[in-house]
Amino acid sequence: MSGNKPLIVALDTVDTDRARRWAESVSPHAGLLKLGLEFFLANGADGFRGITGAPIFLDLKLHDIPNTVAGGVRAVLPLRPRMLTVHASGGSAMIQAAHQAAANAGPDRPMILAVTVLTSLNQNALRAIGVSATPAEQVLRLGRLAIDAGADGLVCSPLEVAMLRQALGPAVKLVVPGIRPEGAAAGDQARTMTPAQAVKAGADWIVVGRPITGADNPGTAAADIAASIR
Ligand code: C5P
Repeated sequence: MSGNKPLIVALDTVDTDRARRWAESVSPHAGLLKLGLEFFLANGADGFRGITGAPIFLDLKLHDIPNTVAGGVRAVLPLRPRMLTVHASGGSAMIQAAHQAAANAGPDRPMILAVTVLTSLNQNALRAIGVSATPAEQVLRLGRLAIDAGADGLVCSPLEVAMLRQALGPAVKLVVPGIRPEGAAAGDQARTMTPAQAVKAGADWIVVGRPITGADNPGTAAADIAASIR
């Protein structure tokens, strides 16, 4: 587990006022706040700067030729995100380029996390894009490739944590979405774990969005989850 605040709250909205309110109420309980594609495309760097209270995980899942991904990483360094994501399927050279671009920021550099197989892809969907491996085999293959290329860690589903922890050892950071507190609606997340189960399985951080941001009182919801993994 990472530090004493392994909770990351996903602020998934294009509304900067709403994101700011969420950030204010959950920050005492969160290690990081996650801003994703929808927020960043709508609000850009100015929107990012308006979100304060905890370090930011900028989840853009970059995937392009190495030179372009390195440029993208350099472009967001002035915002000082604590974590950035890239697609492991972009390959070793692309991940190395992201790692090197981040390293230029010195000791405060963002962690580069790799996404392996999107949880929305099942075996049939993988076969359709030419991947004959099972989802688990592909996750492990891309996970190893990403770490060997300099990624600090991986974003993975709750069902992959234990396997990846065992295969890749204790130093690799594992960040785990698809979390649902006891009794919460699963929504569109098909395979979930509770916060405590994910941490027990080896997660360094858990990512929780709607169970917190959709709650009547997001601050209380975040506090309850933080207490459940303390
Ligand atoms: O609202 P919910 O708790 O499902 O939010 C989960 C967050 O984690 C969202 O921002 C989503 O984009 C992200 N995520 C995910 N599954 C993945 C990777 C990222 O749900 N495999």
